[in-house]
Amino acid sequence: FRLVDLELSEREAFVARFGGLYEHSPWVAERAFRPGIAHAEVADALREAMYAASEAEQFALIRAHPDLGERVGVLTAHSRAEQAGLGLDRLEPELYERFMATNAAYRERFGIPFVVCVREHGSAESILANADARLGNTREQEIATALGEIAKIARLRLDDVV
Ligand code: GUN
Repeated sequence: FRLVDLELSEREAFVARFGGLYEHSPWVAERAFRPGIAHAEVADALREAMYAASEAEQFALIRAHPDLGERVGVLTAHSRAEQAGLGLDRLEPELYERFMATNAAYRERFGIPFVVCVREHGSAESILANADARLGNTREQEIATALGEIAKIARLRLDDVV
């Protein structure tokens, strides 16, 4: 019994610590856990759990992301901090309108939110340029791109929680 209890609490601690790295999707951490997993292995284990998930689950994960620059709705602390780093939480009216139009165009074309690793960009303009370039892709390419961006976002978030 004791071993079982230990493993349960280790799992719970793991999910409590890393469950927020994938936006609103603690199931990624639940599946990535294995007893004794080292910190250096966490990012890869989470990423593998994401890629091992069903297409429907991956789709739900992408859709769990809020629109960038949007001021309504609930943001996770991670997302808020990332967006605040580039001032996306307090865009001037002209930039705010461009973000809303870009988010809408992207959603319209692909049926998913525009997800990008914000911390790889140096400015709001750089993110808008990325969105414009990606609007030329196919839906399949964008689903793959979104998953890759989500894994990069989580890797940077991991540095904040260890
Ligand atoms: N990139 C990093 N965080 C986020 C987020 O919360 N939403 C979107 N759309 N992209 C992100």
